[in-house]
Amino acid sequence: MPTPDTLLPPHRVDYPGYLDQDGYLALHYAAADRDRAQRALLATPLTGLGGAHFPFARKVESALATAGPRVVVCNAAEDEPGSRKDRALLLGNPHVVLEGVLIAAITLDARDVVLYVSDTAQEECDSITRAVDEVRQRFPFVAVRIVRADPRYVSGEATAAVDAINGGDGRPTGQPPFPTESGVAGLPTLVANCETLANLPRIVRAAWDERPATWTRLATVSGDVTAPGVFEIDPGTDTFNDLFARAGGLTGSGHLKAFQPGGPSTRFLPADSADIPIADTAIRAAGSQPGCLAVRVLATDTCIVEICEEITGFFSREQCGQCPPCRMKTQTYHRTLQQVLRQKGPDDLLGRLGVVDEFVADMPRKCSLIDMPTPPVESARSLFPEDFSSHTEYGTCAHAEPLISSQIGAPHHGQ
Ligand SMILES: Cc1cc2nc3c(=O)[nH]c(=O)nc-3n(C[C@H](O)[C@H](O)[C@H](O)COP(=O)(O)O)c2cc1C
Ligand code: SF4
Repeated sequence: MPTPDTLLPPHRVDYPGYLDQDGYLALHYAAADRDRAQRALLATPLTGLGGAHFPFARKVESALATAGPRVVVCNAAEDEPGSRKDRALLLGNPHVVLEGVLIAAITLDARDVVLYVSDTAQEECDSITRAVDEVRQRFPFVAVRIVRADPRYVSGEATAAVDAINGGDGRPTGQPPFPTESGVAGLPTLVANCETLANLPRIVRAAWDERPATWTRLATVSGDVTAPGVFEIDPGTDTFNDLFARAGGLTGSGHLKAFQPGGPSTRFLPADSADIPIADTAIRAAGSQPGCLAVRVLATDTCIVEICEEITGFFSREQCGQCPPCRMKTQTYHRTLQQVLRQKGPDDLLGRLGVVDEFVADMPRKCSLIDMPTPPVESARSLFPEDFSSHTEYGTCAHAEPLISSQIGAPHHGQ
């Protein structure tokens, strides 16, 4: 039974349904006592759920440090392979996103609110547009507009989002200045992920009830599972094994080889880590990062070299070309993985990767995409060296059936 604190109930929550479960109560609280709402946001332990996990309270603090008016951007660009949680929210519970966005607007004195939604997410865009139309009359103090994000991975980076909203070509511009200092139209701007903002109503409700907030997280499961999708999890109790069971169990060999807990840029964890809770601290302690909880599952008959080739190909295609070291590193990673896969090139092919990492380490870059190919490839090599040596020595993976098609796709919304 969904509670007001459920982010993603099984069926789309329309406006009357949202009001029935105390929807917009937290916004009324915040409108009635903005200082108290501000204190609640400045005290929350919530970290950003777009991937970087920057403390939300510090971002609010930074935005408040520059005189207003301010701008709030809800980042729902979500073109990260394997992540579909923000789309699921826009589609399944648009009013919780909107209420969160409006709470942020009230507490930050923002009159301009931008919903930054992927150009490929038409149904989701229609869903949030309908929600905006339903509440526009009731909350006239803020202008809510929708800006479509180019379907490129870098479009979702915070400064790229600001640039696109300002009419630019939507590429990262580098920090500083941070968007909280100078963002949309030069105003202090809070850029926060869609799921991050969807947490604000429950933070405010909990503050008014004088109790701790209850937390759930959205995890997108893809890869070798029967029913990929978006699942709401309790980080206090649910383990990755529980999550994989909810996703219908494993396909292929039926046995877990490894998984990436936080998206394509995170380190692979071995099968015996799947009994840890899906909690940020536990994931870090196990040696990876929670990222945006886009969890990719690999069965034992999946070739991790093929997966690494696919991941590095993605980063190489999606780097935006502004920073020569990023172009060089992502292309070197991809070319190397292609050569390993096909057993072409000199003997110590993989040695190149460490050299290029070191070479670009201190070079200027405008965003963190340049760092992204390293953790997955490094962890895959250290967990499964025999997969790599089998390819370099025999031109095939001793442990795997070849993948038929890319495992990174658009999973449906599961429960
Ligand atoms: C290449 C790249 C792509 C990104 N794409 C997204 C995205 O689609 N959605 C998102 O919320 N954050 C994305 N981010 C992270 C944003 O830069 C930013 O940290 C985030 O929107 C802030 O929200 P949060 O603190 O609530 O996570 C991306 C970062 C990089 C480097
Ligand atoms: S680091 Fe890479 S993706 Fe980021 S701005 Fe530079 S070239 Fe573009």
